[in-house]
Amino acid sequence: MAPQFAKSIAFFFCFLATIQAKNFDQQKKPIMKLKEKMSHFRFYWHDVLGGRNPTAIRVAQAPSTNTSPTAFGAVVMIDDALTVGPEPTSELLGRAQGFYASASQQEIGFLMAMNFAFVQGKYNGSTISIMGRNPVLHEMREMPVIGGSGLFRLARGYAQARTHAFDPKTGDAVVEYNVMLMHY
Ligand SMILES: *[C@@H]1O[C@H](CO)[C@@H](O)[C@H](O)[C@H]1NC(C)=O
Repeated sequence: MAPQFAKSIAFFFCFLATIQAKNFDQQKKPIMKLKEKMSHFRFYWHDVLGGRNPTAIRVAQAPSTNTSPTAFGAVVMIDDALTVGPEPTSELLGRAQGFYASASQQEIGFLMAMNFAFVQGKYNGSTISIMGRNPVLHEMREMPVIGGSGLFRLARGYAQARTHAFDPKTGDAVVEYNVMLMHY
């Protein structure tokens, strides 16, 4: 009986080694066989603080925020429209949802943390995530695109923002966004 038993054990280990080799092979395979491509998108971001239907609302601040020249400590939650053109009535492409927070004491500089949620055509339901620094008085600001979902899975890239219009009375702003994306 003993040699028979040894044979079974040997067979069992061979079997295990085969399974492990197979798992190892699978791990080496690429996750996607799709080709990476680069896309450029341009749209306008509408930050509406005034009026009856604001899309940007200050939700938090520090006791010193109102006396700070840079509104340091203010946190503004947004659900801003993204449109094809700069007019508020222009076709809606999606919404910028998230927040910006005044994070600089030397100049006005926001931490932007927002998702662009698209609603048009094949991009409907897909998102990209932006996280970066936005010194709004600069002519051009650049923020990283740190990821995406749907058609923008595994996206990376950058967004360049340029103020198109600003109303100092209300604080309303229209900002042109150019987004360069590597995605699949
Ligand atoms: C986008 O998708 C939603 C839900 O999946 C759907 O209700 C809506 O009609 C779609 N919009 C467009 C413009 O295709």
